[in-house]
Amino acid sequence: MFSKAFAVAALALTFTAQAYAHATVSPVLGVNGAPKRSDAQRIRGAPCGNTNVAANIDKAASVNAAADGSFTVTATNFNRGRDGSRQFTMSVDANGSGKFVAGKVTKNGVLAPTSNASEQITAVLPAGTKCTAGAGKNACVVSFKSAGNFGNCVIVKQGGAARRDEAIAAGTRAARAARRAEEVEAAVEVEDDLEDDLEEDDHEEDDFEDDHEEGDAEVIVKRSNILSWIWA
Ligand SMILES: *[C@@H]1O[C@H](CO)[C@@H](O)[C@H](O)[C@H]1NC(C)=O
Ligand SMILES: *[C@@H]1O[C@H](CO)[C@@H](O)[C@H](O)[C@H]1NC(C)=O
Repeated sequence: MFSKAFAVAALALTFTAQAYAHATVSPVLGVNGAPKRSDAQRIRGAPCGNTNVAANIDKAASVNAAADGSFTVTATNFNRGRDGSRQFTMSVDANGSGKFVAGKVTKNGVLAPTSNASEQITAVLPAGTKCTAGAGKNACVVSFKSAGNFGNCVIVKQGGAARRDEAIAAGTRAARAARRAEEVEAAVEVEDDLEDDLEEDDHEEDDFEDDHEEGDAEVIVKRSNILSWIWA
């Protein structure tokens, strides 16, 4: 009796859901490959719907956040009108605790599409977000909810682009330091070479007593030029 009532209620729920909007944001957590209409779920309360986040987070396809926290995903609708809205709000669980904080969709989709289609939308993690969920400790669980109350979660990773950008910045600093060290070394070598030249000049001066005063003056000028060039 109870199970029959439950089955009827479940059927009614399913029917209600299908009468509403159907839209997804890819890569859909818990779905392999391109989402179908039947993969769309209503987001009510649970930000990832009925998807088991822990069971899927490490095998899910993911997108990489850029150094500024932005990332692009694909919104797809399976119904027309506002109910098939490709306009989403977004929230982020950075550590897999199930606590979501609001993020921003910076380039949103069509509010009330006239046909089924896909379009790219761009969102940005809240400033200072450090994604620490998943086995790699670099994943954020990002929930998308459409204006028609459909949606799902997407795994966004800090790594890839974000880490590469950090590495480039660090590399530039390292490169600059190395370049500075090389420059100093080269300058010291040049100084040694020029000092040798000056010593030769000194010996030449000894040989040419007539040019003695003129030679000394020349050496002093050369030395001061070298020093001001090296320490400039
Ligand atoms: C996870 O993130 C939430 C939201 O930012 C925060 O309130 C909570 O303390 C964090 N939990 C851990 C274990 O870091
Ligand atoms: C959208 O796709 C669904 C099946 O996924 C179909 O039932 C519906 O008729 C399509 N709507 C439009 C406007 O093409």
